[in-house]
Amino acid sequence: MAAFDLVVRGGTLITPGGEEQADVAVLDGRIATIGALGRATAATVIEARGLHVLPGVIDTQVHFREPGLTHKEDFESGTHAAVKGGVTAIFDMPNTKPAIVDEATYEAKFRAVRKRSWCDFALYVGATPQNADQLAVLEQMPACAGIKVFMGSSTGDLLVPDDEALRKVLASGRRRVAVHCEDDQRLKDRRSIAEAAGNVSAHPEWRDEQSSFQATSRLLALARLAGRRVHVLHVTTGQEIDFLIGHRDIATIEVTPQHLSLVAPDCYAALGTRAQMNPPIRDVVHQERLWRAIADGLVDVLGSDHAPHTIAEKSKPYPESPSGMPGVQTLVPLMLDHVAAGRLTLRRFTDLTAAGPARAFGIARKGAIRVGYDGDFTIVDLQAKRTITADWLASRCGWSPFEGRTVTGWPVATIIRGRAVMLQGEVLGEPAGHRLRFTESTDFSSSDRMARNASS
Ligand code: DOR
Repeated sequence: MAAFDLVVRGGTLITPGGEEQADVAVLDGRIATIGALGRATAATVIEARGLHVLPGVIDTQVHFREPGLTHKEDFESGTHAAVKGGVTAIFDMPNTKPAIVDEATYEAKFRAVRKRSWCDFALYVGATPQNADQLAVLEQMPACAGIKVFMGSSTGDLLVPDDEALRKVLASGRRRVAVHCEDDQRLKDRRSIAEAAGNVSAHPEWRDEQSSFQATSRLLALARLAGRRVHVLHVTTGQEIDFLIGHRDIATIEVTPQHLSLVAPDCYAALGTRAQMNPPIRDVVHQERLWRAIADGLVDVLGSDHAPHTIAEKSKPYPESPSGMPGVQTLVPLMLDHVAAGRLTLRRFTDLTAAGPARAFGIARKGAIRVGYDGDFTIVDLQAKRTITADWLASRCGWSPFEGRTVTGWPVATIIRGRAVMLQGEVLGEPAGHRLRFTESTDFSSSDRMARNASS
């Protein structure tokens, strides 16, 4: 009998101690040992000489559109795209149809997706002015990543527009609250700018820097009063970055690969409404500030904000065209290309996609290559030069703003709890993702009612 379920041999591991050339073995889903395992036997051996073995990449912001089956995406296709792109776990957003706002909608979603996920997963609950006083209970549901707040309208109906409602939301519960910061009143007041322009290049003018900054500063004032930790999603402006430096005790920061890789006005000229997302892609001054914030250690996580809409939907005249672009599958290749270009180190990438998410959200047993942690690895070839093409994409929306881009650095294997789920571009087996567990959740043990129901 083999000693281990999996041995990854001869790769360069990125561990909390740095880079280390070593083998790593997984038994019963967990990392059993790291070191020279020359004679060890394993059911599966992956030769990783010349490759880098990263802790599994965790994408803490995706929209897989379930329930609702709008935009063609669902949990199965979205997680398929994730593992093809080297992602081992995701947090799914609640702005679905119906939105995930109470026990019934959450439980129905959990039941519907739990056997159809290719990767490990967690689900957000959406805050509304109506459910504010139930959030403390809802954030403890099994697999719950926490509460998501939209301060500005985007896709779907979820919205907490005013300070009164936001205060109630922040008062209910204890876990870190993830927030989309755009000021709804300002967006309403300025929508005529978009309508008058009728062209997507006006998107960053309609949803301007002040719209983002105003919401972020309102949020932090209320979070401080409530003593609540917050996670500011997809930060896009230099003003917010400078402001958030003073709030590192309670605020974590997310930046997206698209805000680091696309720039206004060029992206609107080249991609039209395919470059439309909320908050918008801004100019190079903001982009440079985001890169500096990454170098300075200010940014905690990279989230793809995978938000698929079909080309037909995107073809509506602006501003009726929906905001959002796919990204879960391109996160790793795109960011490795930035590594190749010298804009980012591999260790920083690992911090932003594994250790950072685990730290910000208290994900149990994930986020690093350590003995006793889950055997999740994203194995990458830093030398591989590949072009992102439509036929490689698994998202049902069928397009990517990065199609045609040639990148250096590519995910060659996705290993989840010791199972090879993707090897050399091929997705293997059946969906076998598990729900994530969080150290701050009473769901930490598996004895809760919903988990018992779900497994019976
Ligand atoms: O561009 C966006 N699209 N931003 C969001 O906040 C939501 C997302 C979506 O769900 O389409």
